[in-house]
Amino acid sequence: MLIEARNISLDVPDMSHQVIIGKRRSLRILKNVSISISKGETVGLVGESGSGKTSLGRSLLRLYEPSEGQILFDGEDITHRNSTALKPLRRRMQMIFQDPQSSLNPRRTISAIIGTALTLHDLDASPKSIAAILERVGLPASAMARYPHQLSGGQRQRVGIARAIALKPDFVVADEIVSGLDVSTQAQVLDLLKDLRRDMGLSLAFISHDLSVVRALCERVVIMRSGEIIEEGLTAEVFRAPRTEFTRQLIDSIPLPEVRPGWLD
Ligand SMILES: Nc1ncnc2c1ncn2[C@@H]1O[C@H](COP(=O)(O)OP(=O)(O)O)[C@@H](O)[C@H]1O
Ligand SMILES: [Mg+2]
Repeated sequence: MLIEARNISLDVPDMSHQVIIGKRRSLRILKNVSISISKGETVGLVGESGSGKTSLGRSLLRLYEPSEGQILFDGEDITHRNSTALKPLRRRMQMIFQDPQSSLNPRRTISAIIGTALTLHDLDASPKSIAAILERVGLPASAMARYPHQLSGGQRQRVGIARAIALKPDFVVADEIVSGLDVSTQAQVLDLLKDLRRDMGLSLAFISHDLSVVRALCERVVIMRSGEIIEEGLTAEVFRAPRTEFTRQLIDSIPLPEVRPGWLD
């Protein structure tokens, strides 16, 4: 296993309650969640908005520290590592965000955005190196001088992907990365992700509320609801014979007819 969560729970302060005698109540947003992803494998995390997908993704990357349970990366227990101790692993674990509009600094050029990520990890941040990374995600070298708002939504998401893969990670969390894109751009970005996964041997946690996208990309799928995993299995199996009514409803809610030929196997 490359990445593994063992029975993790995550508590956050409950902001909806007043502080009583200096003690804030907490809210359990992940409940006893276990998941493992092996090298080169893609696992889909599916569920409604608010079900805990992003919280689980961030916990796997140790951007959150679980309240209970363990996180293992490449066999090492990283559950309670502080940021200094995590630093050497940071390069190997990356996130691609839902909304490149807000995750890319609007005042910096694409070249500066990628360059900063490279420099932070002592990697080659020369224009030649940055151009090669952009080429890898299907962007022309001329994109280097542009600002995020000068690119299309699909191009911006390619920059988000470029920033993540620039560091040659082993594990990537992709959080709703095609949600804001039109269907044909979605298909192109997913094709790119498939190519990169194959070429780089990436392990992926692919977060999506869209089961048809998950079916096209993920060998295994985990269905979440209210901070818990309620079903998991091989994607084909879960589609063929969902074990919970909730999953059945999710599958039934996929719009028909399928308008995404070519990448929906
Ligand atoms: N930092 C936080 N503080 C308080 N509540 C949070 C925090 N992060 C997430 N939540 C809550 O936890 C639940 C799960 O959120 P999230 O992981 O973002 O779900 P999803 O990605 O599936 O939409 C939601 O009810 C959300 O409001
Ligand atoms: Mg989310």
